[in-house]
Amino acid sequence: MIVLGIETSCDDSGLAIYDGYNNKLLGHILHIQTSTHELYGGVVPELASRDHIKKITPLLKELLLNTNLTLKNIDAIAYTKGPGLAGALLVGASFAQSLSYALKKPSIGIHHLEGHILAAQLETETLKPPFLSLLVSGGHTMLIRVNEIGDYQILGETLDDAAGEAFDKTAKLLGFSYPGGKTIAERALLGTPEKFTFPRPLINRPTLDFSFSGLKTHVLNTILQLGGGTNSKCSLTETTKNDICFAFEDAVTDVLVAKSKMALEKTGLKQIVIAGGVGANLKLREKMNNVCKELKVNTFYPKIEFCTDNGAMIAYAGFIQLNNAHNPLYESNAFAIEIFPRLPLDTRCNSY
Ligand code: KG4
Ligand code: ZN
Repeated sequence: MIVLGIETSCDDSGLAIYDGYNNKLLGHILHIQTSTHELYGGVVPELASRDHIKKITPLLKELLLNTNLTLKNIDAIAYTKGPGLAGALLVGASFAQSLSYALKKPSIGIHHLEGHILAAQLETETLKPPFLSLLVSGGHTMLIRVNEIGDYQILGETLDDAAGEAFDKTAKLLGFSYPGGKTIAERALLGTPEKFTFPRPLINRPTLDFSFSGLKTHVLNTILQLGGGTNSKCSLTETTKNDICFAFEDAVTDVLVAKSKMALEKTGLKQIVIAGGVGANLKLREKMNNVCKELKVNTFYPKIEFCTDNGAMIAYAGFIQLNNAHNPLYESNAFAIEIFPRLPLDTRCNSY
């Protein structure tokens, strides 16, 4: 089965084609809307939707050209049905359902977070559930026990800001453009350790939940105490900004790794998948690898380019789900253009 995947949940238009006959990604293409939203310091939903509308057809044409395929070669279409921005999701859903109708091929709406979790399987077929997933993106921070594909237990999640959101808000305070996670990581490499020490929220508590909004406020207070001003008025020296980036990244990654360790110990799971945009963070990967080596746990990461939103994870998840008749998250919705801006992955598991 050759599956076209379409991701438009937020500010990236991603399309990809996965070949299920040969377990191979045939191609993928991504349009990042950074320049559209940069000016506003965050994603403007209406602008995101309009940009998806403009780009989705040319992107598909280019993808088909790059892969030497035509629409006739596509056996099924997968698209992100939620969670995400309503207008942005609608573009992908209506495009996918129209194609499905015109081509007389099945379509399937995919849960965006499931796409992130399964992205690591694109790299390795040896990864099979059960495993733990640390899902860290711009909108979510969760520890999930993946019992099998489609059976997800949320062991802990953020009580306020997501990890990526904390990166983005801190970047904004320092006057960097949106999204700022990658910039903070690059700046942190130039920073000096221990110039600043930031709190590690909830790190010593027995909970598997996270909290990052206090950390962001701590950064704000630090900048103000240094007399720096915030956002575009941030006048701190580049060296001080780099030192703050180091301290911030160090604190967030310490918490993410400590909670993952706690979850691995509590569940006894021996595999962990780090998913979502913040999973591209190399400091996080380095610390996670060290801890997992001690615990004799295998770590799995999607390719860096498939940590942030992309079409490949949706094409792959579509292939898996179309072959999984028993997944309760997926019911046939022949041609209905349905989106779910708020869509739980599963109920929270309170036993940890
Ligand atoms: O998964 P994603 O593309 O979108 C959501 O589903 O939310 O994640 C985007 C998030 C942004 O907050 C971005 O700043 C963050 O991932 N991010 C990073 C890095 N690359 C992207 N955060 C830390 N370090 C990075 N290298
Ligand atoms: Zn995402």
